[in-house]
Amino acid sequence: MYERALFALCLLTLVLFQSAASCELRPVLVQVPKRLPAGYVISESKEELSLKGCAAKPVAFTSSDPDFTVNTDGNIITVHGLEITTKRFSVLVQDENGMDWRVDIILSCKDEASQKSSSVARKRTKRRWRPLPFSLVENDTPPFPKELEMIGSDSSVNYTVYYEISGQGVTKDPVGLFILNKNNGMLSVTRSVDREQYPQFNFIARVFDIRGKETDAYLPITVNVEDKNDNTPEFIGSRFFTVEERCRAGTVIGQVNATDKDQPKTPHTFIKFTLQNATDMFSIDPFTGVITAKTNTLDREAQDKVCIEIEIRDMGGATNGLFSRGTVVITLTDVNDNPPTFKEKLYKAKVQENQENVLVTRIPVEDKDLVNTPNWKALFEVTKGNESGNFRMETDPKTNEGLLYVIKGLDFEKTPLVKLEITARNEVPLVGPDTKWLSVPLELSVGDEDEGPEFNPGILYLKVKENVANGTVIGTYKALDPEKKNSDGMKYYKMTDPGNWITVVENTGELKTANTIDRESPLVHKDMYNITIRAVDESKKTGKGMVIIQIEDVNDNIPVIPGKDLIMCSKGDMLSSVLVEAVDMDKPPYSTPFIFELGADHDGKWKLKDTTGSSVVLEQAVTMPNGLYSVPLLVKDLQGFGKEQIMDVRVCTCERVDNGLGICGARSASSSLGSLGILALVLSGLLLLLLSLLLIFICSTKRDKLYISDDTGTGGMLLKSNTEAPGEEVKDGALMMIPGAEVVDGSLQSGLMESKNMTSASGRYGQSFFQGGGVYNTTTQGFGTEKYYSSGRYDNNMHGNATIQKLSNTSALDTWKTNGRYLDRKLTYFGDEAEGRYADDLLKTYGHEGMGSPAGSVGCCSIVGEQESLDFLNTLGPKFRPLADVCYTTNRTGN
Ligand SMILES: *[C@@H]1O[C@H](CO)[C@@H](O)[C@H](O)[C@H]1NC(C)=O
Ligand SMILES: *[C@@H]1O[C@H](CO)[C@@H](O)[C@H](O)[C@H]1NC(C)=O
Ligand SMILES: *[C@@H]1O[C@H](CO)[C@@H](O)[C@H](O)[C@H]1NC(C)=O
Ligand SMILES: *[C@@H]1O[C@H](CO)[C@@H](O)[C@H](O)[C@H]1NC(C)=O
Ligand SMILES: *[C@@H]1O[C@H](CO)[C@@H](O)[C@H](O)[C@H]1NC(C)=O
Ligand SMILES: *[C@@H]1O[C@H](CO)[C@@H](O)[C@H](O)[C@H]1NC(C)=O
Repeated sequence: MYERALFALCLLTLVLFQSAASCELRPVLVQVPKRLPAGYVISESKEELSLKGCAAKPVAFTSSDPDFTVNTDGNIITVHGLEITTKRFSVLVQDENGMDWRVDIILSCKDEASQKSSSVARKRTKRRWRPLPFSLVENDTPPFPKELEMIGSDSSVNYTVYYEISGQGVTKDPVGLFILNKNNGMLSVTRSVDREQYPQFNFIARVFDIRGKETDAYLPITVNVEDKNDNTPEFIGSRFFTVEERCRAGTVIGQVNATDKDQPKTPHTFIKFTLQNATDMFSIDPFTGVITAKTNTLDREAQDKVCIEIEIRDMGGATNGLFSRGTVVITLTDVNDNPPTFKEKLYKAKVQENQENVLVTRIPVEDKDLVNTPNWKALFEVTKGNESGNFRMETDPKTNEGLLYVIKGLDFEKTPLVKLEITARNEVPLVGPDTKWLSVPLELSVGDEDEGPEFNPGILYLKVKENVANGTVIGTYKALDPEKKNSDGMKYYKMTDPGNWITVVENTGELKTANTIDRESPLVHKDMYNITIRAVDESKKTGKGMVIIQIEDVNDNIPVIPGKDLIMCSKGDMLSSVLVEAVDMDKPPYSTPFIFELGADHDGKWKLKDTTGSSVVLEQAVTMPNGLYSVPLLVKDLQGFGKEQIMDVRVCTCERVDNGLGICGARSASSSLGSLGILALVLSGLLLLLLSLLLIFICSTKRDKLYISDDTGTGGMLLKSNTEAPGEEVKDGALMMIPGAEVVDGSLQSGLMESKNMTSASGRYGQSFFQGGGVYNTTTQGFGTEKYYSSGRYDNNMHGNATIQKLSNTSALDTWKTNGRYLDRKLTYFGDEAEGRYADDLLKTYGHEGMGSPAGSVGCCSIVGEQESLDFLNTLGPKFRPLADVCYTTNRTGN
């Protein structure tokens, strides 16, 4: 039954709207049967689809719903049979200009209840309750009231009824919009309505009979207000955008949003965006309003804020659409696309020489980028001409100028004009394809200053031998006027000279010794002695210089034994020994290894053994009672310089031994005072006297011989050698060959020691001396002749005019001398220590005394190795006494 009702034909109602002069395409509302057979024609759409109101001719129709098709007349035809309740689709109409129009089609079907009183709505016949929603066009034009619809109840057939309405638009706000003819049910509207204010009205109608009895259920009435395009689109949201200058083309800058109060989802609210100007810079998406950059050349420096005008138009931008225009502001942000530029092609500046930490000049730059940003702030660098680090650059934070400072004084005399290249950069890298940092040349002229004198070199090194004679010129240290390049009128003064060793000649700058230069002085460090000199020029400007005197060592110190009081622990029958150490202030080879020998007048009770470089062990040769003994010990340095030093050896019974040093016990001290001790002392003293008397003769000569020979050569040095046996050089002939020229020496060493010994030697020990020294040619006659005391350059205070020529350092001569001394020592040793074992092998040279000397030969003094046989003393006879006298005196003076 219900099924069948559905099959019934629905009432077709075509609601026509006033055709709009403004070409408004109205939706087509059609009532159709519930069930539509294939080929069913909906001809009601024809009028609207013909586009009459738009003054355009339709050429093609397209249905958005595949169930329907549109023929060329504008009739909508069902493609196949279908069943609907409501259906909404649209037809796209293309006009002859190629424009597309859209017409909405709304199909609805009348249900069962409404089918009975089906009639064409247009005829405004009596309505059953629950009619379709009524429609009302907004902003309708007068006259009012305008009839809208007639409502009617079926009960009016049997009764006389009247109607009443109430609700929105009637009894509620807006009150009285709708009025109803209470007798015939005609609904009218009294004034125009704004859809945007009241899109819909809902109220109810009731029906009563004359007795006031409600004859039917009340009827809800809906009045829809149809939209008219009466609202222009509006911008919403911000219209200020920011983008970096020089951004890529296509960079999204922002989206402009707009709204339209008209009914959504209709052409009335379909907004199109268009750019009105600046179309070369930007583009806008017509439907979304997204703004993009059109080029990559947006330049903040040209225009940092771009105002663009945008039009928003509804109806999809159609000419009949409503529109408004608005300005969008696009701010370009800065990037570092401009380097700092220099205003000039060349800068010039001037600075006085020698000035330090002075501001030389300001170099202004221009940077088009945003002020006080890292894109603008300039950094400066001296890219050429700062090789010696004379310059520094800073930036004035306010003006962005480059400040050029000289940090190391410039020298006019060297570079009167300094050419610089200055490069300016920013704190951040440059952006852009062909941008680069710029440089500018700067010519800095250096002003001349009258400068104080300058020593050349700043530090003067002088080599000087120590002990050089007072007043010797050791060098000249001159200063120059930097402008005049000469030393005219310069005066020199000493500033520091800790030992007052040097004097400076005021006018010449000559340096002379004023005092003994002593390498061993505490004022000397590492053989260096420093003095500073001041030079004063005519304009009283001063300059300072330093002289470092490097002092060459001279053998002016002999080894000494610092601890002369020795304690020897008595060991009963065993022989005791004690270590003796010596020191020499000179440097090698003028010091260690030392040579230790027992003094000439030792009592024979002692022996030396275990010699090291600087020490020797003194050992008892025989057992001896406790007591105090004096032991003469001769210590010589490598060059043979030394003297006899008396050691006080206390032999005692040790209480204990500390660090190898014995400490005498109390008992041993008292025993040494005992009668036995005294007796031993007296006896040994006597013995010593006797012995020394004998030995004086023998040994003193030997010693003197040695002594003299040692002193002769001062320039040469003795070096350790393994040649122990007499070598070729010992032969007289070889040793005597000394080329005269080589003897002359420019060295300045004082000859104090040797000259002293020379005197004592001259004419007295002639032969033995020459045998020992070897190098001094053959005879005593040699001394004093012009040949060897020639130049007089080396004044010797002790000996008046006697001058000793110093031997040169030439190696041959040194070797000879060294050999000679060494041999000599060796011979002595053999004679002395080896107890004549090698006596026969020894070289003996006898002086030629001439013929017929009544005293015979005194060659005894030179005989080495014979002292062990004292027999000859017996046969000396009358010769002995004078000779002994001579020897004795020599010995005294010799020391
Ligand atoms: C009107 O009256 C007739 C006869 O009395 C009746 O048949 C009919 O149903 C009534 N109509 C209504 C709507 O009441
Ligand atoms: C516009 O609307 C979009 C999407 O709602 C939003 O992301 C954007 O921020 C809006 N633009 C402005 C300027 O308000
Ligand atoms: C675009 O037009 C607006 C309004 O006339 C104006 O303010 C703006 O400067 C123009 N912009 C350009 C880039 O010409
Ligand atoms: C010049 O060189 C010095 C030393 O190399 C350096 O400290 C200084 O910064 C440089 N000055 C400039 C301006 O480049
Ligand atoms: C130099 O003179 C000083 C005192 O005037 C004196 O003590 C010193 O011995 C002299 N030196 C030399 C090497 O003549
Ligand atoms: C002398 O000068 C040099 C170089 O300046 C220095 O090394 C040395 O210590 C100075 N010597 C003395 C004794 O002042």
